[in-house]
Amino acid sequence: MTNLKWTGFAKKSPQERIDLIREFGLLKEESQEILQQQKKLPLETANQMAENVVSELSLPFAIAPDFLVNGKTYHLPMVTEEPSVVAAASFAAKMIKRSGGFTTTVHNRQMIGQVALFEVPNVDEATASILEKKAFLLSLANQAHPSIVKRGGGTRNLWLEPKEDFLIVYVSVDTQEAMGANMVNTMMEALVPSLEELSQGQSLMAILSNYATESLVSADCQVNISSLSRNKEEAHHLAQKLVMASRLAQVDSYRASTHNKGIFNGIDALVMATGNDWRAIEAGAHAYASRDGQYRGLSHWSYDEEAATIKGHMTLPMPIATRGGSIGLNPTVQVAHDLLGNPNAKELASLIASLGLAQNFAALKALTSTGIQAGHMKLQAKSLALLAGAKDKEVGPLVQELLKEKHMNLETSKALLQKLRQEN
Ligand code: HMG
Repeated sequence: MTNLKWTGFAKKSPQERIDLIREFGLLKEESQEILQQQKKLPLETANQMAENVVSELSLPFAIAPDFLVNGKTYHLPMVTEEPSVVAAASFAAKMIKRSGGFTTTVHNRQMIGQVALFEVPNVDEATASILEKKAFLLSLANQAHPSIVKRGGGTRNLWLEPKEDFLIVYVSVDTQEAMGANMVNTMMEALVPSLEELSQGQSLMAILSNYATESLVSADCQVNISSLSRNKEEAHHLAQKLVMASRLAQVDSYRASTHNKGIFNGIDALVMATGNDWRAIEAGAHAYASRDGQYRGLSHWSYDEEAATIKGHMTLPMPIATRGGSIGLNPTVQVAHDLLGNPNAKELASLIASLGLAQNFAALKALTSTGIQAGHMKLQAKSLALLAGAKDKEVGPLVQELLKEKHMNLETSKALLQKLRQEN
């Protein structure tokens, strides 16, 4: 999947893009058919996924091409309703690819479940009794979901923490390719009678935690500063500003929230395209962003002046799944997995983190140079030019003319195009 010619992909119609994907051989026959026939989630299936269903809501399904991650090229499916997100991701992917692409590290892939005990008469004694039975409890939880053990997963560790008047029991579980919410919940509930007996207390609840600190992934990349500007001095100045923007998100939670929103423009889009639970990913990552007590930006950018590169790094929890839940029920979700080459959960987590970092780079670059609105206006002008019927060579000049207008609309675009054609 390398060296395919994606330039101009943005200017094509959806049908032309589908044809190109077919030409590139990126999808299996079955997925091509789903795209070609625009097969949607059947209403009967939707009715099994949620309650009181009366219809479905469609969202744009786009592709951000040419992400080089760990030496392999991917074309990332993105589901988003927001203009400029896919353009920004594509733009960043191109720049980062030129400087070697992304490298990722999957630190671990386990989910954590918890049982919160209260009215425990003696916390120290309860802790000792529970820890003494650790092996028994881990095996008891496994018996509640034996199929995961057969697949090579299952419980891995159990530990306790007293917090105010609670004694909390945590259990880590290797959920293999699943996100594992149901699995972990079943396991935690199975532990309740034994934990109540051992602690002499009561269980308030037994549930999976979305704060997936045992499921961390890191993405790294670098960008040669010549990509920021052809002028060396300006490139140096822009690199410094980009790093300051990264620092600002560390010291100011108001900025950190927007900074991370930009990261989630990318993350959510790929999480949704692959049929995953985006609320779980968001909740875990925002908790991680506040892990030292202050909400901070998830990414960090530094400037290596000698190498003339800026370096991006981001670590966050990414308990993503490739099996289970609604994955496999929605035909377009199957297309997304196929387009990615049916990655396993670790590979998918790496792609999602890389996309988040790319999205962040594009946003920070825009914010610290032209400002965010310039890109938005340019995109709007481009789509108005195409809608007015501008051909390849006409798009650039028409966009320039449109950007001079106070109010851009299709009528102005058509009139300006006519004027341009008369002048030539
Ligand atoms: P540009 O330099 O004008 O782009 O940037 P270009 O016209 O020179 O095109 C360069 C490449 O960008 C293209 O290459 C495409 O890959 C891509 P080509 O295909 O031509 O060889 N590209 C597009 N891809 C698809 N459709 C398009 C398109 N246009 C360019 N129409 C760009 C324009 C929008 C990329 C740039 O201004 C940008 O990255 N802006 C940031 C936009 C952004 O972050 N949007 C998210 C919404 S704002 C927000 O919610 C987050 C925020 O608040 C987060 C934060 O504060 O940190 C900002």
